Amino acid sequence: MNAADELIRSAMEAKGKAIAPYSGFRVGAAVETASGRVYTGCNIEASSYSLTICAERVALFKALSEGERDFTRIIIATDTDDFCPPCGACRQVLWDFAPDLEVILVNRKGEAKHSWLRDLYPAAFGKHILREGK
Ligand code: THU
Repeated sequence: MNAADELIRSAMEAKGKAIAPYSGFRVGAAVETASGRVYTGCNIEASSYSLTICAERVALFKALSEGERDFTRIIIATDTDDFCPPCGACRQVLWDFAPDLEVILVNRKGEAKHSWLRDLYPAAFGKHILREGK
């Protein structure tokens, strides 16, 4: 397990790599695996706006594509005074791979707010419903 401060630093550093020329809204994320590895991501915007991808999914997909399957925490850092929770699309994807994930939101001052994905995404859609519909 990494020190929370270390993970927060990684997410803030990833935020510095954000490609956000259209929104000007920078987001950085750091996903921690059960084995203690850390994968970072930033938001990447495309000129056809809807093709943009959020920092959280970049970090998670990087980890998944390296073979990682067990996740403990995600840190999400933004430049805002308020804490920025993950968008609905990211909540779904995070839930599909890590329903027990701890979510740590970090504001511009580096203050942290802890929560759990299950509380951010109650009554989630998921593979259990897909199975029932077959
Ligand atoms: N964004 C994220 O990276 N994560 C979120 O959870 C919310 C939104 C990005 C997408 C887009 O590049 C910008 O923030 C504004 O929506």
